[in-house]
Amino acid sequence: MWTSRPEEPEFLVHPSVETYLKGWVHRPHPVFREVEQRAEAEGFPIVGPVVGRLLYQFTLLVKPRRVFELGSGYGYSALWFVAALPEGAEIFLTDYDARNLADARRYLGQLGRPVTIHTLEGDALAHFRETPGPFDLVYADIEKTRYPEVADLAYEKLRPGGLLLADNLLWRGRVLPPEAQDEKTQGILAFTRRIFQEDRWVSTIIPIRDGVSVSVRR
Ligand SMILES: C[S@@+](CC[C@H](N)C(=O)[O-])C[C@H]1O[C@@H](n2cnc3c(N)ncnc32)[C@H](O)[C@@H]1O
Repeated sequence: MWTSRPEEPEFLVHPSVETYLKGWVHRPHPVFREVEQRAEAEGFPIVGPVVGRLLYQFTLLVKPRRVFELGSGYGYSALWFVAALPEGAEIFLTDYDARNLADARRYLGQLGRPVTIHTLEGDALAHFRETPGPFDLVYADIEKTRYPEVADLAYEKLRPGGLLLADNLLWRGRVLPPEAQDEKTQGILAFTRRIFQEDRWVSTIIPIRDGVSVSVRR
């Protein structure tokens, strides 16, 4: 329990709690473990099964027809979205790296879901700006200095009542007072201030893993 940030913590959720929570996660298909094992072996940052399951639940609740994901990597978080999307829905995946997106398509194909997948290579925010809305659900997991732009653009692109989800809101404790002054932490804090503007969003930060924000667009 931190009242201040005396030093950067190794973890926010105690590892034994994290392991316990992971133990309850049911994965809808073997491809989830395949991608988790690859990410573990490569040290590639994915949201992991506990947060993934939350994305899956929100998708089941919202039943979005159109989803935009900023920062897809090789598709682990998208697997959770696609597994829960209703038939005929579409999802836009974005990443700087074309190989990541090709791998994401291959993994997502294994789910065999009747969903349209668009992959957009390059800057996620530029693609988001260019892709006509409205969207029902937007998910952000890109470089943290760009998070404030995500909040502004997502407000424009989401329908009223739509959902904005974002990862790393606790940033391994660096957002806690006294806040770290680096650009990434400041980006996350600027994003956080925006999503807690009550006239635009109704938000909660869920403190699992590295902190996930859930924001309903007013
Ligand atoms: C944390 S990983 C995403 C992991 C993915 N959401 C998951 O949980 O499986 C971040 C990814 O976003 C990409 N990325 C970061 N900033 C980006 C940007 N501005 N535009 C496009 N891709 C970006 C990186 O190439 C990386 O693959």
